[in-house]
Amino acid sequence: MAKAAKTRTRFVCSECGASFPKWQGQCGDCGAWNTLQEQAPPADGGTAGRFAGYAGDARTQSVRRLSEVAAEDVRRIGTGLRELDRVLGGGLVQGSVTLIGGDPGIGKSTLLIQAMALLAEQMPALYVSGEESAEQISLRAQRLGLPGERVQLLTETCVERIINLAQQHQPRVLVLDSIQTFFTTELQSAPGSVAQVRESAARLVRYAKQTGTSLFLVGHVTKEGALAGPRVLEHMVDTVLYFEGEAGSQFRLVRAIKNRFGAVNELGVFAMTDKGLREVANPSAIFLSRHAEEVAGSAILVTREGTRPLLVEVQALVDQSPLGNPRRVALGLEQNRLSMLLAVLHRHGGVGMFDQDVFLNVVGGVRVTEPAADLAVLLAVLSSFRDRPLPPDLVTFGEVGLAGEVRPVPNGQERLREAAKHGFRRAIVPRANAPRKPIAGLEVVAVSRIGETLGSLIGKI
Ligand code: TYD
Ligand code: MG
Repeated sequence: MAKAAKTRTRFVCSECGASFPKWQGQCGDCGAWNTLQEQAPPADGGTAGRFAGYAGDARTQSVRRLSEVAAEDVRRIGTGLRELDRVLGGGLVQGSVTLIGGDPGIGKSTLLIQAMALLAEQMPALYVSGEESAEQISLRAQRLGLPGERVQLLTETCVERIINLAQQHQPRVLVLDSIQTFFTTELQSAPGSVAQVRESAARLVRYAKQTGTSLFLVGHVTKEGALAGPRVLEHMVDTVLYFEGEAGSQFRLVRAIKNRFGAVNELGVFAMTDKGLREVANPSAIFLSRHAEEVAGSAILVTREGTRPLLVEVQALVDQSPLGNPRRVALGLEQNRLSMLLAVLHRHGGVGMFDQDVFLNVVGGVRVTEPAADLAVLLAVLSSFRDRPLPPDLVTFGEVGLAGEVRPVPNGQERLREAAKHGFRRAIVPRANAPRKPIAGLEVVAVSRIGETLGSLIGKI
């Protein structure tokens, strides 16, 4: 059997598509290096191709007009965890495939066993683990005080057997933890290799779509980053969620990177406790570190992640550089954007940092992707450079352009109201974001150029 399979799997170049019976370092056709990947043989082993005899699945229909398609509401099921429902776009969509990625030990299995225990109250649920033994999972569920009578458990790593058993038990929701441990018998490569991860996932996704089962795939982010990690699956699934957060912090952020049924960048916030993951219902200020005294290099930014505002602290450290090529390091923000902002600061603000190392960090392990962080970055950098603290009751947001202009950002009013709610008294915002009606307790300084921003602060810092 193994011998027969050996003669049938092929190695296909991902660059040019040439196929070889054996693996080799260089493609004999196009000459590219390290592009050969194992691929499953055709289903019937013959020349008809692997999709011979394909009769369609649950989604296959005849050609229709767009307007004729009755837009049924997607059926959503509450998972019982409101923050998870939020990142999924308002609940789990029936028949959807969700990929949950993150570093090992960040809480993927914990989140899913909690969600499954709650979902199992409503529908048949099957949890397949390729990593932990049934005893380990059961022990954890007991410790977390989860009702376990209804969750079905399977420890198995062969995809064909899993699909077989799933066909017998017909779960409506299925968890596979983690995709790197599963293998399909069609391929010879080890579990966790790109070919195995991709092919195993493809089979499971096909099963989910044929049967309308909701599927959760867990994927570890490997040390090498993309290779064989969950990234190779992102295009196959409906929703991609990633865990973020610092190892030392108890907070865990779950971010939707892709969602066919909801907003991307939506953020769910949890805290890891000894009773598992707890939802943080009002997370807008949890990442603010309260300094005992005023410190230089810290600016408070009102960012907006998904559909709600979040107050975060942007920290900068500017220090004389011993290197000919000073360092620019940005954690939680984009490095190129920092370089650009420093150039704008020099050209339009007259402050040069070409002999300074600049380090930037967003407190709490939050990743800020929106350009609305620009003003906060500039103020934090300048405050550290001058070693003068910003007023502690000041917040800011706004995008900075290459011409030195300060551009408006979406949902300015909402951001300002959130800041006022948390006791901030002053805000520096883009002119177009200035509120028409004053916000009680908040003094708003509207700026349209970077020079003005510095001018309005220069007396203070
Ligand atoms: P886990 O869900 O096993 O991580 P993953 O599946 O992403 O690899 O999480 C394990 C970590 O979470 C582990 O370091 C211990 C911690 N943890 C708690 O702090 N409290 C708990 O109740 C549980 C279940 C785990
Ligand atoms: Mg796990």
